[in-house]
Amino acid sequence: MDEKHILGDLAWTQQRTVSRSKFWVIITSFLSCFYIILHSWLGILPSTTESGSLKYNEELISWQSCGSFKGNPLECSSINVPMDQFDLGFPGDRTFTIPLVRMRGNNATQNLLLNPGGPGASGFEFLYRLGEQLKAVVGEGFHLLSFDPRGVNSSTPIASCYPDDRTRQKLSRVRSLHVIGDSPEVYAWAQNFAKACPDTMGEYAKYLNTPQTAADMNSILDALGQQDMIYWGFSYGSLLGQTYAGLFPERSKRVIIDGVVNQFEWYEGLFEAQSVIDTDTVLDGFFDECINGGAENCSLALLAASKEELRDTVLSYMDTLRDQPISVYINNSVYGLLDYEKVWYNGFLEALYKPSMWTALADNMYRLIQGNATNAFLAYGIEEIRDWHHEANEFITLNDGISGPMHWPRDRQTFLDKIAPLFNHSLFSPVQSKIYYVRQHWAVPKTHSYVPRKSVKTTHPLLILSTTYDPVCPLIAAWSANEAFEGSQIVEVKGYGHCSVAVPSVCIAKHVRAFLYEGKLPDTYTHCEVDSPYFHRSDKSEQLSAHKHFEDVEEARIHQAQVLLARDWDFVSAN
Ligand SMILES: *[C@@H]1O[C@H](CO)[C@@H](O)[C@H](O)[C@H]1NC(C)=O
Ligand SMILES: *[C@@H]1O[C@H](CO)[C@@H](O)[C@H](O)[C@H]1NC(C)=O
Ligand SMILES: *[C@@H]1O[C@H](CO)[C@@H](O)[C@H](O)[C@H]1NC(C)=O
Ligand SMILES: *[C@@H]1O[C@H](CO)[C@@H](O)[C@H](O)[C@H]1NC(C)=O
Ligand SMILES: *[C@@H]1O[C@H](CO)[C@@H](O)[C@H](O)[C@H]1NC(C)=O
Ligand SMILES: *[C@@H]1O[C@H](CO)[C@@H](O)[C@H](O)[C@H]1NC(C)=O
Repeated sequence: MDEKHILGDLAWTQQRTVSRSKFWVIITSFLSCFYIILHSWLGILPSTTESGSLKYNEELISWQSCGSFKGNPLECSSINVPMDQFDLGFPGDRTFTIPLVRMRGNNATQNLLLNPGGPGASGFEFLYRLGEQLKAVVGEGFHLLSFDPRGVNSSTPIASCYPDDRTRQKLSRVRSLHVIGDSPEVYAWAQNFAKACPDTMGEYAKYLNTPQTAADMNSILDALGQQDMIYWGFSYGSLLGQTYAGLFPERSKRVIIDGVVNQFEWYEGLFEAQSVIDTDTVLDGFFDECINGGAENCSLALLAASKEELRDTVLSYMDTLRDQPISVYINNSVYGLLDYEKVWYNGFLEALYKPSMWTALADNMYRLIQGNATNAFLAYGIEEIRDWHHEANEFITLNDGISGPMHWPRDRQTFLDKIAPLFNHSLFSPVQSKIYYVRQHWAVPKTHSYVPRKSVKTTHPLLILSTTYDPVCPLIAAWSANEAFEGSQIVEVKGYGHCSVAVPSVCIAKHVRAFLYEGKLPDTYTHCEVDSPYFHRSDKSEQLSAHKHFEDVEEARIHQAQVLLARDWDFVSAN
């Protein structure tokens, strides 16, 4: 099984299923952008005379139209940034290229920068896939702008630990989910991986980190002729936002962080133990809401009368699956084993991020427990190797944090004893194990000097968004950001899932708009309600329809967009 698990804030990546046709749209649009960008950086085509090239007042760069998504035209551009933003003298001629993509607002003069997380998620992919819904939430008053951060996706050079994809497929597989049993293998693998990464990236390796990316965002603003940072960052994007606001408080005019990573733990902690403190609570929420929804809406409710009983039933079923994987035969090209890891990580863990998957998870689990593994296998058991084709996630995580032999015991057993207590924090903690082995061996020198501080005074206070129970970015981390940034305010949506967008809440959207347009923050800690049930049946034609009725036309529109966002948000791939 291909595992690419790093907890970071959310990089719990397992294989996932994607609709290929949807993917093709992204890939083709993507390649066409890339092609055009390539020509404009090389200066082969003078972009001002190129038909379709767009230049706006005050902006230093020009744009190429790069397709449209559901009637929203997109434009693409790119900038070059110095390899080391913090030492422009040396080695001056080396750069990263940062591709930009923008969906224009009809009534906008300023750009809202978006980061979808990761680290390592592509801003291009994000805007293509979710731009339309985000636009409905934000309104027409801002251009939505995203980018592939240095090292990510179509940025060059791409952050890579392998010379090519074939080698990546061959060498990147390592088992790590059996914390004790897999330890010798992952310990040995990590030593090679930690060598291959800097071998592949050369001198660029040490400049792949969050403070550099934060500085790149200023280069983007400068290219746009925009003084103020207007930003919404999700998940790891909240770490990028906090780093930006810590480094450049004077430009931080409208910074929203959503699904918060504790920056103190990220940069200074040996372990990211806090990140999983609410993971199992979200699992309990799944059982609780299932019982509340009743068997009509949640098939698993047929198996138990209380959430405790349901939890016991499901977990003891999982134990039997651990002992005996199930063989599933669909036809001569689709068959295989359904084992504990596939159901637990591809099924449950993914669903903890996204409550919109709960009804289907309950159906699949019900049938599985009743003895029919077909649907569970099709949903969680098929190995679809998904890959970002880069290791930006690892580079950034390892370069930002406490890595290297001076912080970790070299001897495997001593090391294992040190990290073993971590795996008690959550039933899902084993996905965190692999990255620690790489941390132990990581020898890339640290080049950033960012130190998170408390009581930073930004030009305008930050807006902090969180669900009550987030499986990887717990509410307590939102409090840490609240302490770090003077005057900041938390708006908590009383629900489960990763980032505020995991559940529809028009109340959240109103806070976002009031903040972006008028700079308004609530006076005190604020709660928002979730606008939809966790378990519901809707016939196919109705699938995308509203979960709640709103009189106000604009609110109804926002709600619809949020229902889709909650469905299509893809943190596990955005990781
Ligand atoms: C366009 O933006 C201006 C300034 O933000 C605002 O006053 C006006 O109402 C907006 N017009 C529309 C149609 O939204
Ligand atoms: C960039 O992302 C798109 C969409 O996820 C993907 O299809 C493409 O292969 C990526 N390109 C690179 C060079 O990683
Ligand atoms: C199932 O969900 C619907 C919609 O939320 C709700 O109206 C209904 O009462 C639920 N059924 C049960 C048995 O709770
Ligand atoms: C095998 O089953 C899969 C999944 O149901 C289906 O997509 C595929 O078309 C089937 N292949 C053949 C050869 O029947
Ligand atoms: C198992 O479920 C699948 C999918 O719903 C169905 O096609 C199949 O007939 C079921 N098998 C049995 C033995 O009931
Ligand atoms: C913690 O781990 C130990 C073994 O490493 C186990 O015996 C114990 O039950 C665990 N405690 C919890 C609370 O999971």
